[in-house]
Amino acid sequence: MFTSSPTHFDVYERGYIAVDDCGIIQGVYHTLPEDFAYDQLVDFGDKLLIPAMNDMHVHAPQFANMGVAMDMQLLPWLNTYVFPEEAKFADEAYAETIYHSFVSELWRQGTMRAAVFATVHTLATHILARTFDEAGMGAWIGLVGMDRHAPANLCNTSAEWAAGIQTLIDSLASMPLVKPIITPRFIPSCTPEMLRCMGEVAKQTLLPVQSHLSENKQEIAWVKELEPESSCYGDAYYRYGLFGQTPTLMAHCCYTDGEELQLMREQNVYAVHCPTSNCNLASGIAPVRKLLQQGVNVALGSDIAGGHHLSMFRVMQYAVQMSKLQYTASDGKYPFLTLSEVFYMATKVGGSLFGKVGSFEKGYAFDALVIDDLCLSPHHLIASSPIERLERFVYLGDDRHIQHRFCQGKEIKQV
Ligand code: GUN
Ligand code: FE
Repeated sequence: MFTSSPTHFDVYERGYIAVDDCGIIQGVYHTLPEDFAYDQLVDFGDKLLIPAMNDMHVHAPQFANMGVAMDMQLLPWLNTYVFPEEAKFADEAYAETIYHSFVSELWRQGTMRAAVFATVHTLATHILARTFDEAGMGAWIGLVGMDRHAPANLCNTSAEWAAGIQTLIDSLASMPLVKPIITPRFIPSCTPEMLRCMGEVAKQTLLPVQSHLSENKQEIAWVKELEPESSCYGDAYYRYGLFGQTPTLMAHCCYTDGEELQLMREQNVYAVHCPTSNCNLASGIAPVRKLLQQGVNVALGSDIAGGHHLSMFRVMQYAVQMSKLQYTASDGKYPFLTLSEVFYMATKVGGSLFGKVGSFEKGYAFDALVIDDLCLSPHHLIASSPIERLERFVYLGDDRHIQHRFCQGKEIKQV
């Protein structure tokens, strides 16, 4: 079962997927063609087979804070809880420990690829990349740039960042599924000099960009003060070449509207909706339906540790539920999100940043999960449709029900 489009699930009950030696899907069939030649047939019986999850906004160095410290809004939360934790990644032994647990937990929750923020530390960031590579999982790895409004031990200069990203470009070249991504933390953390440097590197290397956008009202007011020339928050990135000049992911967009929304559409900037985080940090409800109606691509992110759970199924559930709050608050103006829409965001939209990933169509990488949902509904299972089974798993299931995990055709048995 998969979503080739957001409107419906493509269901192949007791169907077949042909995967070649490189892990690429050659076809999906209701019944196997008669003359079909194959080396090996794997039968998953009655289990659900779905694309693996893609988490398009997550902070690996905040993993130790997951599930705690959610009693503040964004700016004091960063200063009080986030920055002290991220500063610990100057210590490579600490980075080894936390990053290994982080990647292992991503794997456990069924996420095979992610767009990840690391910290300003090049060595620790390389450890994170190597951990994904050794696991056989995919990632965009972000060496963070930040040179203002943070403790000195968590700042780098633009020259240090530029040297660090070059080191990572070289050392990650041998990692097939792991690549660097240009990562200004957000406008308040980056001087014009840092932003200029990052935009220059984006232009030269064509690497993608990830950052935060219009998450919180105090943050937006601060950006207005810091970048008075910019017509909106998004324009502040745009002026430095960091808003769609190369593929761009912007997390949150809770207050994106008007000119900023138009700029996102024109520049094909992806919004990454992080509903658990928006709820925990009392940031707001992102106008996802409006973004979609305006033609903006929307992916999903856990935003650990603003978000409290790495499961993208939990994130999907929050996305639907928050859209229902918005639906009632808007007197029905914005129809709420459907299960197939949020599933599409967590699979095919996020996956598109990694190439052909996130669907079971021909030509896509076989990134998949085998779900054993029998114990979720022992007495209904026979009568349940595949879509009902998936919905029940999204709302009630967890990692215990994920039996197998594949990335690019390879089963990842343990991390
Ligand atoms: N804005 C700048 N940094 C962060 C962060 O670490 N998490 C979230 N949610 N927003 C941010
Ligand atoms: Fe974030």
